[in-house]
Amino acid sequence: MKLTETVQSGDWKSEKHVPVIHAEQNGDVLNIKVLVGEEVEHPNTLEHHIEWIKVFFQAEGGKFPVEVGSYRFCAHGEEEIFSKPEVSAVVKTQAKGTVYALSYCNLHGLWENSQEI
Ligand SMILES: [Fe+2]
Repeated sequence: MKLTETVQSGDWKSEKHVPVIHAEQNGDVLNIKVLVGEEVEHPNTLEHHIEWIKVFFQAEGGKFPVEVGSYRFCAHGEEEIFSKPEVSAVVKTQAKGTVYALSYCNLHGLWENSQEI
């Protein structure tokens, strides 16, 4: 099986693992927010949490998705501090295209979503 075949998806309104994308273009700036658990909260404990989110953007006609950023969540209960699986990214581009998000839960693996802008 290929790694890509292991990536899960679904409706973020009912499946808590699916990364939710809010992307908005203002002139030559693309503002992107990605979070896990907007509608259905995902557990955020030492035993069960979101480890990371990666964000990509593929411009229309582009050859492949360009990695915008990788965000690793490191606090999982130390001193009662918990990183929330939520990130903001800003990209300078005038291109239309597709924003992709990939996230990883330590118990439930890889999840993806995309949004066209
Ligand atoms: Fe999970």
